[in-house]
Amino acid sequence: MRRFVLLAHKAPVAPDFTLNDLPGSAGRIDVLCRAIGAAFFLSHDLRRDVEVDILLQDQVQIRLVGEKLKRLNPDERSTAALIKHALEKLVGEEEEVQSTPGIFVSRRTLPEMVDRLYQLGAHPVVLHEEGSPFEAASIPDDPAFFLSDHQDFSPTDEEALADLPRVSLGSTPLHTSQCITIVHYLLDRQREDEGDLVMCHKVWEESKAHLIKGLLEDFGIPANLVRHVPPSVLPITVDGLSEVRIMVRPRDLQRAREIISDYFEPPIDE
Ligand SMILES: C[S@@+](CC[C@H](N)C(=O)[O-])C[C@H]1O[C@@H](n2cnc3c(N)ncnc32)[C@H](O)[C@@H]1O
Repeated sequence: MRRFVLLAHKAPVAPDFTLNDLPGSAGRIDVLCRAIGAAFFLSHDLRRDVEVDILLQDQVQIRLVGEKLKRLNPDERSTAALIKHALEKLVGEEEEVQSTPGIFVSRRTLPEMVDRLYQLGAHPVVLHEEGSPFEAASIPDDPAFFLSDHQDFSPTDEEALADLPRVSLGSTPLHTSQCITIVHYLLDRQREDEGDLVMCHKVWEESKAHLIKGLLEDFGIPANLVRHVPPSVLPITVDGLSEVRIMVRPRDLQRAREIISDYFEPPIDE
């Protein structure tokens, strides 16, 4: 599960705002709606393994749970209408209530939110221009990324988040929604890389396999060697004749084949 926690400083905690002025009198709710879209929308689909928690003025929490979410549309106005409806449902309630499928609203403060995330086994991380580089940081499983809205984190936010790791997407200040898109991209790529490697070539000499592996690595392509003994009618394997498969990440496959072709021979991939 990926979580994004948005700290909103100006967005209203009561439903008395107009959908006709999201960037103005509605306290930049448009920023939150764009961030929600970036967190959930794929082309013609929704990411179901995502939760977005919004904290309005350190008082009200709205949670959008991907696996239960319905009625979320790509336009900001209809997303703002879902937020408005959630705030209407909260009036007079003490416990968390579900306002529409997958949207839950309650009264919470930032320290309470952080505690809840820890209780769920999530790992809070602050996204901040001055953090350590994202690519070098080891992002934990079940991360919960904290982002501010159009403003910097407030001094109270900074105090509540002081002990959390900070990661950066570079020194350029980005919009909240842009950060979410980049985080998805980086984590999706990491997940693909951890997935199955694919065969780009096979040879029958161990020494040659090592030469090819070294060559690919010189070009920045990590490669693994897998020894494969084909099923045989003979109950023995002949030393030096077992097949060695050269395995690479799917995204490196085409380049790896070009390199092998240039330096050795047309790759065998079956
Ligand atoms: C629009 S920015 C906040 C205001 C911004 N610091 C400014 O005034 O220019 C929204 C949030 O996105 C995240 N953010 C923006 N740029 C970032 C970056 N380069 N690396 C990591 N997080 C970033 C931070 O959480 C930030 O609080």
